[in-house]
Amino acid sequence: MGVPALIVAAGSGQRLGAGGPKALVELAGRPLYAWSVDAFREATHIDRIFVAVPPGRSGQFTEPGITTVEGGETRSHSVAKGLAAITAEGDPGLVVVHDAARPLVSPALIDAAVIGLDSDPGLHALIAATPVTDTVKRLGEEGVVAETLDRSQLVAVKTPQVFRVEILRRALESGDLAAATDDAALVEAAGGSVGVIESPSGNIKVTVPGDLELAAYFLERSR
Ligand code: C5P
Repeated sequence: MGVPALIVAAGSGQRLGAGGPKALVELAGRPLYAWSVDAFREATHIDRIFVAVPPGRSGQFTEPGITTVEGGETRSHSVAKGLAAITAEGDPGLVVVHDAARPLVSPALIDAAVIGLDSDPGLHALIAATPVTDTVKRLGEEGVVAETLDRSQLVAVKTPQVFRVEILRRALESGDLAAATDDAALVEAAGGSVGVIESPSGNIKVTVPGDLELAAYFLERSR
């Protein structure tokens, strides 16, 4: 089985403060997004890699074998544009969406997520997530704690996320793309059933400068 992957890399990287797109920031000698491309190339069940890039920047995304697509205003707009490019070639059944900002994703996790969704007809999506180890509280007015959540029922959501193409397409058409922080939330809002697959906690997202140092350390260690 081979399914297409969409790596979303069209973010501005404002919080990283690198003065340019986060996906192009150097990590261990290569652009950040290239590490994710490597993992998807190595995964057995991926047959094509699309990368959503910041408008006007496709010339800077030079990893071999990728197809670039201009991204949109928000992450989910970028996913919608990438999905349109993928489905222009026909409906592949499943699609894997991944953040370029997670350079430590492993080929094993990608393959396990694809197989997991393909073999469970009751699910519309299967997403990587990690059990929450901190206690999480919801704040009410003026920053005062309103509620302590039951940690045993919480997971922190990551990528890769694998979707049945048809439900993701419908969820993107009907959902609030500006408000969504992950695409699985749009599928849930559209009535879809979303399962989770455990992700290693090392599958971190590079958001602030300290994350780059941490990711470089993990990459060196895994070499
Ligand atoms: O901003 P954040 O780190 O949550 O972004 C997650 C991923 O979504 C990043 O890889 C980023 O490049 C991507 N993104 C995108 N298009 C946007 C905003 C974010 O592809 N408009």
